Amino acid sequence: MTLVNAGPIDAWADHVAARLVGRLAANPALRLCLPTGLTPLPVYDRLAAAVARGDVSFARAEVFLLDEFGGVAPEDPGRCDRTLARALVSRVDLPADRFHRFALSGDVDEECRRVEALVGAGCDLTLLGLGTNGHLGMNEPGSAPDSLTRRVALDPSTIAASARYFGRSTNLPTWGVTLGLGTLSRSGEVWVLATGAGKSAIVRDTMHGPVSSAVPATLLRDHQAAMLIADEEAAALA
Ligand code: PGA
Repeated sequence: MTLVNAGPIDAWADHVAARLVGRLAANPALRLCLPTGLTPLPVYDRLAAAVARGDVSFARAEVFLLDEFGGVAPEDPGRCDRTLARALVSRVDLPADRFHRFALSGDVDEECRRVEALVGAGCDLTLLGLGTNGHLGMNEPGSAPDSLTRRVALDPSTIAASARYFGRSTNLPTWGVTLGLGTLSRSGEVWVLATGAGKSAIVRDTMHGPVSSAVPATLLRDHQAAMLIADEEAAALA
């Protein structure tokens, strides 16, 4: 895994968006896995602007949602599919049937097997946020390096952090579904994104701490094409 310090937050967002536009221009049928969370939002704004300008198109791309909260009403605006739709998908020209998300009203294990099969040999490019506990998607500490798409229990810190998506502090989800670390490892490229001083310790540990399932992000350190793209604050201790 290579660490890229992309400078102040605006330069960081420009950098990530420009790289992604480049990948999409080179391969319009790019198969992308995308996260929600707060970190990628400035990147998604720039991508939407690039599509509006006609610089690039998602018309032939495919987007796989990284993870989803369970036990939440389909119309709840805090769901990951709703969040990614608002932040990016509804603002670009991605055909609706190329936005792959989780349907959790039926058999959850069966749905996870369906998504795993759909990802198949792997995405071309995966963007990930970085949890302060090192989680990737909902692969919490303890997740196996070869884990596949599955139902998971959320770490108490992740449950607490989800309050910012749901706009409430009670009745928060306690489980979710996520592409696994093995699923993500099959991606041709992986870009882990981190911004802000609050991520500086986990960026340091991801790059330099022991490789261990206690810090899931370290398990991608040996991926052949993984980058941790941080802004200057998140990169400060690494
Ligand atoms: P954030 O979340 O982008 O909102 O910081 C990242 C994560 O917890 O995976």
